[in-house]
This record gives sequence, C-alpha cells and structure tokens, in this order.
Amino acid sequence: MQRSSLKSKKIKEELQSIKKVWRNTYKNSYEEGLHFLLDGLKDKKFLLESVLTQIKNKVPIQYILKNWFFYDGEYFLNPHVLIPRPETEILVDHIVSNFSHAKKILDLGTGSGCIAIEISKKLSESKVVGIDQSEDALKVARKNNKQSSNPVNFRVSNWFSNIDETFDLIVSNPPYISENDKLDESLKHEPRSALISKENGLSDLKEIITDAYGYLQDNGILILEHGIGQEEPLKQKMLNNSYKKIELIKDLNGINRFIVGFK
Ligand SMILES: C[S@@+](CC[C@H](N)C(=O)[O-])C[C@H]1O[C@@H](n2cnc3c(N)ncnc32)[C@H](O)[C@@H]1O
Repeated sequence: MQRSSLKSKKIKEELQSIKKVWRNTYKNSYEEGLHFLLDGLKDKKFLLESVLTQIKNKVPIQYILKNWFFYDGEYFLNPHVLIPRPETEILVDHIVSNFSHAKKILDLGTGSGCIAIEISKKLSESKVVGIDQSEDALKVARKNNKQSSNPVNFRVSNWFSNIDETFDLIVSNPPYISENDKLDESLKHEPRSALISKENGLSDLKEIITDAYGYLQDNGILILEHGIGQEEPLKQKMLNNSYKKIELIKDLNGINRFIVGFK
C-alpha cells in the first residue's frame, strides 16, 4: 500500500475511535460537540490517546482543541482560563458600537484576554489595559495578544491593587456564581477562581462597583457582565456609590445580563 493511503487509513481509524469513545461517553446526547471536535481536529496534529482520555473525562472540546472563536478572533485556551462565552460577545459589541469615544479602557479579570483584545482591535486608537490576578491566565492572554496590531498592556493585579491611573471605560466579566450553587458538570474543568464569588456570587461585582468609581474619569463608564437575577442588588450598589445613570442590557435570551454605570 502506498504511504499516502496508509496515512489516510490511519486517520480514518483514529476518527472512528474518537467517534466511538465520544458516543460511549455522551450516549448520543451531544452530537454537535462531536461535530465541532472532528472539524477542529481536521487540520491539527494531535495525540490520539490524549484526546480519547480527555473525552472520557468530559473535558470541554475548547480545551481539547486548545482554541476557540470569540467575536472576530481565535483564542488559544488552556484550563487556566475561562472558555469565552457567546454572551460576552454582546458586551464587546455594546462597547464597540456605543462607547467608541473611550480612549483609555481597563478590562478587569481578563482571562484569555478575549474582551480586551477584541476591543483593542476594533477601537484601534484606544489604549487598553488588561489585568488578572492569575499569572497563568496572563501567559495565555499575552500569547493571544499577538493578533492585535494595537496590543493590550497586560499586567497582574488583584482588581485595582496595581492600577494607578484613571480610565474612560472599565469593563469586567468577573466571577459571579454563588459558592452554594451546584456547579454544572461542564464547568468543573474551568478555573474555580474564574467562576465563584462569595455573597451569593455578588462579592467581586460589588467590590468592583465600589472601587471603580475612583478609577473612572469624569463621565467615565463602568460596564459589567453579571449572573441571572443579580441586577437589582448591583443597581442599588451603583446608586449608593454615586453613579449618576444606570442601564441594564439583556442577552440574546432576553435576560438582564449586563449593567452599565455612568460616573
Ligand atoms: C469569568 S472569568 C472572565 C475571563 C474573561 N474576561 C472572559 O470574559 O472570558 C473571571 C476572571 O477574573 C479573574 N479574577 C478573579 N478574581 C480576581 C481578582 N481579585 N483580581 C483580578 N482578577 C481576578 C480570574 O482569574 C478570571 O480570569
């Protein structure tokens, strides 16, 4: 048999074993995942045994493939960063469409860097800073930064601990799941520090609302992603902290998902 047909026979066998293990694991309940995985592996070199083990452990396909798409970009990912979510694209889109005048922008809890980098690409005149408390996450963000011709300034910081300037716009998708919530199986491979916050998921959001005010320029904007049903306490927190106008924004399912406070 010729070398090329031996190679394609081997690939076919590998794909068959991936399908078999996938269907044993997910019992035909997640066929679209299999489709994405096979499509993503098509042009990649991969170690079959490692892929099969990860499928058996229900590792998300984004971590198996080590990349995923977000807004207008493609992001390298590993288990040190949250997998970027489609609803967060609404957050980016809202900023790009409505706040393009912002010249200095801060992304708090940047993870893979997806929010900061997409903004830096679209608002190419703006200076964007992205912070995270996790050095491992920042390594991922810096790798992804190569796709922007207006690179983000990434640095380590515990929220505002390493920030000494003011911004026109501060954005964050912080941890907002309650520690009392039973985590969905699909979330258990993602970093807990990216997901869970004290006080029923509100602790980090409230801390950011209080502290951000002092890091916003006059007429500056704070825009946050939050969990389902968290908007009322967050609105109250903004009112108590002198934000003069507050807006709620819905996600694609019509659920309040983002809050904007104007200084
Ligand atoms: C929900 S993830 C968001 C990641 C990314 N921005 C996105 O939207 O996909 C929250 C991020 O906040 C970071 N984080 C959690 N607590 C923090 C803190 N006190 N200071 C800075 N970053 C923090 C986590 O490491 C994680 O990367």
